Amino acid sequence: MSDPWKECMDHCVEVTKKAGEMVREALLKDIAVMQKSSPVDLVTETDQKVEQLIISSIKEKYPTHSFIGEESVAAGAPSVLTDNPTWIIDPIDGTTNFVHRFPFVSISIGFTVKKEVSDRVWDCLQLHRGQNVHGTERERSILQRSPYQSVWTRRYYPVSGTDRNGFQEGSRAVQNNAGQHQDHPHHPCTWSKHPVSIHRIRSPGSAAVNMCLVACGSADAYYHMGIHCWDMAGGAVVVTEAGGVIMDISGGPFDLMSRRLIVASSRAIAERIVKEIKEFNVGRDDTDN
Ligand code: IPD
Repeated sequence: MSDPWKECMDHCVEVTKKAGEMVREALLKDIAVMQKSSPVDLVTETDQKVEQLIISSIKEKYPTHSFIGEESVAAGAPSVLTDNPTWIIDPIDGTTNFVHRFPFVSISIGFTVKKEVSDRVWDCLQLHRGQNVHGTERERSILQRSPYQSVWTRRYYPVSGTDRNGFQEGSRAVQNNAGQHQDHPHHPCTWSKHPVSIHRIRSPGSAAVNMCLVACGSADAYYHMGIHCWDMAGGAVVVTEAGGVIMDISGGPFDLMSRRLIVASSRAIAERIVKEIKEFNVGRDDTDN
């Protein structure tokens, strides 16, 4: 059966490439930083310009489609998911990284139809690293062979084969966030006692990158409370396409507007995290706005 959304996806990939160039160029210049809700909630002109570019280019071709964009919502647009084909955009996922030129930054675009994240969305995820801008030819070729590039070229490394029964010897990194929800600025989204076999916790600072690291087998899991739909929509499909699982923090089905998720290389690992994690209320994307 032919893919009714292929043309949209192809168009979005081209738009995302242009947006990626915009991000790369901005990294070479001075970055003017503005605050949103708090001193740790940052935005730059590049976030806003990239989002405008993506939305206007898609809207021109598909005027009936809907959009939820991080910066549009920050400017007062509604964040409501309907059955209409909807583009969910984070123009720079990892804005703090971008500001500090910490090299994990992504443009994340998810596409939903009838409120379901389409399995085609990963076409539109493009990852950028600072080294790609400043790097030598040698560094560039390393990047092209890296898992990040694999995501873009649609060749996934599979999720890690670590421990299908939970965290035991051989488990690698798990990633979490540092709880940036405004009511819980210092609340680590973590469990009270780490299972001893986890090698390390890492927090690269871009949710889409975190999910791709699970997808390509560099980490076994990623969990987060206080995240937004634009942080999750693109990467969610990448993980499942690579053979991983995605679920709610409670162990129930993943809900794009819930502001929380667990992704893992296996169900056993995700369920182990469910048992250990302490939940707290982070609200929802479709009721907080
Ligand atoms: C942020 C990143 C970060 C996560 C934050 C998000 P932004 O997205 O995904 O990893 O910890 O909760 O807000 O603001 O840079 O697009």
